[in-house]
Amino acid sequence: MTEQPVIEAARLSRHYSAGAGSAEAPGVSDISLRVGRAEIVAITGPSGSGKSTLLFLLAGLDEPDSGSVRISGVDWQSLRGAARARFRRDSCGFIAQGMTLLAQATAAENVEVALVLAGTPTADRGARVAAALAQVGLSEHGGKLPDQLSGGQQQRVAIARALIIEPAVILADEPTASLDSATAQDIARQLVGSARANGTALVLITHDLSVAAHADRQVRLRSGAVESDG
Ligand SMILES: Nc1ncnc2c1ncn2[C@@H]1O[C@H](COP(=O)(O)OP(=O)(O)OP(=O)(O)O)[C@@H](O)[C@H]1O
Ligand SMILES: [Mg+2]
Repeated sequence: MTEQPVIEAARLSRHYSAGAGSAEAPGVSDISLRVGRAEIVAITGPSGSGKSTLLFLLAGLDEPDSGSVRISGVDWQSLRGAARARFRRDSCGFIAQGMTLLAQATAAENVEVALVLAGTPTADRGARVAAALAQVGLSEHGGKLPDQLSGGQQQRVAIARALIIEPAVILADEPTASLDSATAQDIARQLVGSARANGTALVLITHDLSVAAHADRQVRLRSGAVESDG
């Protein structure tokens, strides 16, 4: 009942200036959102409705004009610079819209990077990388470079990289965009299943309603505001 939410966003607004002479474009306006421990929330809504803007604010990657975001009780506004980067690295997995793997590194190395950044000793990394790759069904593919993997396999490497640090929450911006719908379903099931298995909260942006159906809750945005939540 009084359990602390993993994410508590209160009255968030972020307006982009739309250029000389024109009115400000709403990024998001007055959005409040709570995500509980291990809860899985899908964010849906038309293109331009503010989904990515909201996710960046939740991840502490952008500053709201007003309102606040707390992650496990810690307000992003209380963290600056290196302290903010460290907190994000330890508590938020972020899967960006579009591909973000290192092209010259193998699948296993791409996953290991998260542990390197977290300061995990070399001797402890191998087994954890192997376990994370196994969790997303890529045990046989750890030695391949990204361009030797399918789009869906690359997406699963990005998921393994987010999972491996065992964050309180994973924030994922359209991790299944640009995949065919069968593969998108498969990846979404894997991401949701892994989050559930690890007790990780997940906020997942998707255009795909069949992907959203895997979540505990769907929040729909329209024109920068919450249209429905339930
Ligand atoms: N850097 C920016 N400068 C100005 N306006 C922006 C900027 N980023 C986003 N916007 C505007 O804010 C609104 C919300 O954009 P956002 O990227 O959050 O949408 P989205 O829901 O993620 O869309 P999509 O599904 O296409 O990714 C849009 O009207 C967009 O044009
Ligand atoms: Mg977006």
